Amino acid sequence: MLIFALGSLWLCNVATAAVTRRFARATQLAAYNNLVLQPPPVFNPAPVTAFTLTLPSASTNVPQGKLSIPVPGTFYGFSIEMSVLTQLFGKNSSFIQVPLLNLLSNIAQRAGAIHIRIGGNTQELAYYVPTLPNDHAISKEKADSNNPTQTPAVIYTTDLFHVMSNISAFAGAKWYIGVPFNDTTKFRFEIVEYGEAILGDNLIGIQVGNEPDFYANHKGRPKTYSPANYTDEVGLLIAAMATNLLIGPSVSGTWTPEMVFDTGFIEKYTDSLSALSVEHYPTDNCKPVYNIGTYHDPQEIFPSYLSHTAAQKLVAPYLNAASIAHTANKPFLMFETNSASCGGFPGISNSFGATLWALDYGLQMAYGNFSGAMLHLGGQNVYYNPFTAPPTNQSKFFEWTVGATYYSVLVAAEVFGKTNTAQIVDMLGNNASVYTPQYAIYENGALARVGLSDYTATLTVSGGTAPSSVQVKYLLSDSVATKDNITWANQTLGTQREIDGRFRGTENIVTISCDTGANTCQIPLEISTVTFATTARTNLAGTATVAPDVLATSNGISGNTWQLGSTSNGKQTSGAKRGGER
Ligand SMILES: *[C@@H]1O[C@H](CO)[C@@H](O)[C@H](O)[C@H]1NC(C)=O
Ligand SMILES: *[C@@H]1O[C@H](CO)[C@@H](O)[C@H](O)[C@H]1NC(C)=O
Ligand SMILES: *[C@@H]1O[C@H](CO)[C@@H](O)[C@H](O)[C@H]1NC(C)=O
Ligand SMILES: *[C@@H]1O[C@H](CO)[C@@H](O)[C@H](O)[C@H]1NC(C)=O
Ligand SMILES: *[C@@H]1O[C@H](CO)[C@@H](O)[C@H](O)[C@H]1NC(C)=O
Ligand SMILES: *[C@@H]1O[C@H](CO)[C@@H](O)[C@H](O)[C@H]1NC(C)=O
Ligand SMILES: *[C@@H]1O[C@H](CO)[C@@H](O)[C@H](O)[C@H]1NC(C)=O
Ligand SMILES: *[C@@H]1O[C@H](CO)[C@@H](O)[C@H](O)[C@H]1NC(C)=O
Ligand SMILES: *[C@@H]1O[C@H](CO)[C@@H](O)[C@H](O)[C@H]1NC(C)=O
Repeated sequence: MLIFALGSLWLCNVATAAVTRRFARATQLAAYNNLVLQPPPVFNPAPVTAFTLTLPSASTNVPQGKLSIPVPGTFYGFSIEMSVLTQLFGKNSSFIQVPLLNLLSNIAQRAGAIHIRIGGNTQELAYYVPTLPNDHAISKEKADSNNPTQTPAVIYTTDLFHVMSNISAFAGAKWYIGVPFNDTTKFRFEIVEYGEAILGDNLIGIQVGNEPDFYANHKGRPKTYSPANYTDEVGLLIAAMATNLLIGPSVSGTWTPEMVFDTGFIEKYTDSLSALSVEHYPTDNCKPVYNIGTYHDPQEIFPSYLSHTAAQKLVAPYLNAASIAHTANKPFLMFETNSASCGGFPGISNSFGATLWALDYGLQMAYGNFSGAMLHLGGQNVYYNPFTAPPTNQSKFFEWTVGATYYSVLVAAEVFGKTNTAQIVDMLGNNASVYTPQYAIYENGALARVGLSDYTATLTVSGGTAPSSVQVKYLLSDSVATKDNITWANQTLGTQREIDGRFRGTENIVTISCDTGANTCQIPLEISTVTFATTARTNLAGTATVAPDVLATSNGISGNTWQLGSTSNGKQTSGAKRGGER
């Protein structure tokens, strides 16, 4: 049995109680922001940190209704905004970024494949062109200089699909794409036609409508645009294009999925639908970037990411919809998510706290019967990227950067494994303390793995005997606030601008002997060796400037901010600068 000891999640034992509210002024791009927050103090009263967890040896002994449906190893994948594809994938199918292939392979090796969605807000206006200057596979429409707020559309050639196909061949990627839905009187089906022809089986789904619950604020749809209108428009698309790969409704919280289901969405289109989907971010950081909404102080909001409650609160609203999907035999997908819309928070989104948050959130979604979830990536001007390519004109000087949540996706791939039989249960041991979550994973009906957080757990096996020993892999960092030095079983990918996607260091899987007589295994956490960063610091060296094509990044902007056009040049310039200053 393999045990995953998942870091110092809820025991942020800080020596200093003083919390500095002053934020480092950073001039670098958000993706390289080095703000380190104060790790929040230990919750008071401190949780019980040594307890016994009783694990049924067979899934048949898990109480009725507790076990998830089978979860694929590919559960956690990535969602990539179309406007940053050149940066991340390479200019064309002759030049594919090798670090990307390494990063994807790491996950595909553990999960069997890696699921990637390309799309986002930028998919709606995208269109096909036969060729592009300089043999690029993807580019951007020239901005209209008479109308500086106009969002330039993403344009692509058939070579985009050769790029994707090559990434599938080298790194096991399977793809979700989105059909543009900005004008349902004139559909543009090229992305589907070329996608199906060139990607074949590696194309696994076609999103129809990205966050249609925001369409009413967006030109082209009236203020009265309703779930029934969306359902009707999907009907128009289905009438015009035969496919069984459609995915919807991808609502993001303004409408509930049930509001769309109630219009007959599933029954009407069941033959065309391959999955049902939602998108959601727990909160937003739009104020510093777009001056919209309420400002959330990262230091103050940080603790809200650091307990099991965070994951439970995000998943609970979807349990009913997941059950409806399951009854309809459709996988239920979180098509786009991350720590906060409008690019995430400095100090949070790229911290080890986010690693643990995203992992707990992923496991909780699986426990809630989601079948997949995709963490969103934008460009250089967002904080939450699981990985970031160097700006094109600096790729000679710098290598890639991995974000803290890359490790969440990696570990989730190992937690679920390749058998597609993994079933997960949130054990809710230790009197359901939200500071000491524990998950058990059953494979082919037998207890296979356990995910624990920071405490000494004594595991005992019911309906079977404890093995003579268990293996433990630790996911560790210096504190929940740090960004660097994240290790998984003692290996790391490295720090910012220096990674090539390969693990460094010697893998160390710890073997713990069990007491077979007492039927227990005691899993210690190495908390005593952990030190905590207490000062904010910023790295002003190697300050990068924003390349124009990098500005074209949208990042899951929420609510009525959509119409501002997250790919608008002017907005993103200020966003890139001001996001880092806060
Ligand atoms: C997940 O689905 C299974 C099978 O239908 C069910 O027993 C279980 O209660 C569901 N889990 C949740 C959290 O709703
Ligand atoms: C990719 O770009 C290079 C350099 O511009 C060019 O030589 C090559 O033919 C291009 N490959 C494709 C498949 O277009
Ligand atoms: C839809 O997008 C296309 C391609 O970007 C654009 O030419 C067209 O004007 C848009 N239509 C509407 C109604 O917004
Ligand atoms: C990569 O793409 C090119 C098209 O540019 C194609 O000829 C080649 O076969 C592809 N390689 C793989 C491994 O798919
Ligand atoms: C939305 O539905 C209403 C009621 O059927 C209809 O009157 C209206 O024209 C529809 N609007 C759109 C944009 O389809
Ligand atoms: C378990 O939690 C409940 C509710 O938080 C509390 O009332 C109860 O005292 C706890 N029991 C133990 C044994 O800690
Ligand atoms: C990473 O860990 C090493 C060894 O523990 C330490 O020397 C180094 O300062 C740490 N780096 C950062 C950025 O915390
Ligand atoms: C962890 O990795 C470091 C760096 O490669 C290595 O020096 C050390 O021996 C490893 N620790 C264990 C216990 O394997
Ligand atoms: C990269 O491009 C930007 C924008 O064109 C420019 O300002 C900057 O100097 C370039 N950096 C390097 C290292 O060439």
